[in-house]
Amino acid sequence: MSSDSFKKGNGALSEKSLDKTLRPEKWADYVGQEGVRKNVQILLRAAKERNQSPEHLLFYGPPGLGKTTLATLVAKEAGAGIKITSGPAIERVGDLASILTNLSPGDILFIDEIHRLNKVIEEILYPAMESGVLDIIIGKGPSARVLQLDLPPFTMVGATTRIASVSSPLRSRFSGGVHRLNFYSEEEIEKILERSAKILRVKAGKDALKEIAQRSRFTPRTANYYLKRCRDFAQVHRRPMSKENIKEALELLEIDRLGLSSHDRKILETIIGKFGGGPVGLNTLSTALSEESSTLEEVYEPYLIQTGLLERTPRGRAATPRAYEHLGLKEIRRRED
Ligand SMILES: Nc1ncnc2c1ncn2[C@@H]1O[C@H](COP(=O)(O)OP(=O)(O)O)[C@@H](O)[C@H]1O
Ligand SMILES: [Mg+2]
Repeated sequence: MSSDSFKKGNGALSEKSLDKTLRPEKWADYVGQEGVRKNVQILLRAAKERNQSPEHLLFYGPPGLGKTTLATLVAKEAGAGIKITSGPAIERVGDLASILTNLSPGDILFIDEIHRLNKVIEEILYPAMESGVLDIIIGKGPSARVLQLDLPPFTMVGATTRIASVSSPLRSRFSGGVHRLNFYSEEEIEKILERSAKILRVKAGKDALKEIAQRSRFTPRTANYYLKRCRDFAQVHRRPMSKENIKEALELLEIDRLGLSSHDRKILETIIGKFGGGPVGLNTLSTALSEESSTLEEVYEPYLIQTGLLERTPRGRAATPRAYEHLGLKEIRRRED
């Protein structure tokens, strides 16, 4: 799992159940991502008409944008069962062989974090995805033989936050399409929050939900998480979910008006304070922050880039003038220029 600061520690468990309660179970509740949704629905309908399993699909994009949700909707629409696993969970060839041979015809096999599959496993997957067979090597040396097992028809759905780390042979096996999920618009997030508020039986006006949407990093999971924290705040203080109270609750969580957490700000402050605003290499930066470079790259950077606070240059990461402005550091920059 990704490690947004708000997901660490005890948050992790409630985060999971939150995902489950609020996860859309029908397309009508899946907001936005129009392009992906339409393409996937055509793929599914065409396969159904031909009485075949849909071809394999790969979804990629930052955490919390709806990849797992899409996979479950694909299974629903195809009227299929879904088996869920993840790249790091499949350690040995035997693990994969047992998953594949236990599939029922038409099942969806969802592999999360697919970029973390190891090479050996990947190579078993190629013929499985392409021709529906499992190659098992029996014996060693010159007497080794390959035994081929026919697999039931299945659809693989992969998800990753790191498309660049998915090898191109694996990527090319997703013959049904490779789809990128984008950040949501503020209106889309508001719509998602309205539905969530109903499910959680939270009474909040449009302007209150707008306040959450504006700080939610254009990410449904984050928006839902803040909605719940604001609900807690209002409940404990016996206050309504008004715009003002929501503001106060989010400020207590140290979420600023652009939706940056204290950790996001620390990243920018480090680039500016320790590396003169950059460019600084990803590895150097991650060491300075004691953060894994993959987490920086997958979890934090996309939103900082999206909001125009951070730039990826060939020589590394750099803070933009907007970052200085946002942190109230305009004066210092001018002096340096
Ligand atoms: N398009 C969407 N419409 C409504 N809610 C969504 C949408 N995408 C995500 N969500 C909400 O955000 C949560 C996290 O989405 P998820 O599919 O787990 O993201 P990912 O797998 O990309 O990390 C879901 O449980 C759901 O509540
Ligand atoms: Mg997921």
